[in-house]
Amino acid sequence: MTQVEGRFITIEGVEGVGKSTSVAMIESILSRHGISCLSTREPGGTALSEKIRALLLDRDDTSMDPMVELLLMFAARVQHVEESIKPALARGTWVVCDRYTDSTYAYQGGGRQIDMQVIERLEQITLDNFRPDLTLVLDMPVAAGRKRADQRSARDRFESEDLAFFERVRDVFLERASLGDRYRLIDAGGDVESVRAQIKPVIENEIRASRLQK
Ligand code: TYD
Repeated sequence: MTQVEGRFITIEGVEGVGKSTSVAMIESILSRHGISCLSTREPGGTALSEKIRALLLDRDDTSMDPMVELLLMFAARVQHVEESIKPALARGTWVVCDRYTDSTYAYQGGGRQIDMQVIERLEQITLDNFRPDLTLVLDMPVAAGRKRADQRSARDRFESEDLAFFERVRDVFLERASLGDRYRLIDAGGDVESVRAQIKPVIENEIRASRLQK
């Protein structure tokens, strides 16, 4: 039997849309199908990338230049991809990642208004266009998501931004979700069961497709 690599799945969306609940759902679907899975997050996912995450989220830092923020996102990502994600996929493990490069387009491109072409060039240079096989974009109105996120924890450096920032972030996610085959737009405004009902067939389909390729 030929060695089949794992699939790389990313979960995206504004604050409070329920990304971590969805990651847990996907983990349990994969495990029921006997598929080994690595759940991880960005920025972060390795010791070094988690240190970079702490710098990025520190809300006492009011001095970070948007370009430095962008470069740190990619720095953390390269380490994560090379040290953790690619080796897992090569072992046949599926990787489920809470945020990835679509977040960079949404937050640094949309939110901070950095030129999207600059982000595209950096993506090419640093990752050689290494992309997910499947990206779930969880969507709900910004104000409702923010309310959920606020009930959970104190605001970090990004969460301290205003609603207009998050509206721009959401717009980019929606735009990107309509772009290519790998995106699935999930309505995250309902309860957990309604989200599960949307996510389950998408993941089961991905599993079927991966088995057909064997
Ligand atoms: P996360 O832990 O997912 O935050 P939350 O649970 O509040 O959604 O992500 C941390 C923050 O990092 C989040 O506010 C979005 C931001 N971020 C970017 O701005 N660009 C990126 O490329 C990534 C991966 C995250």
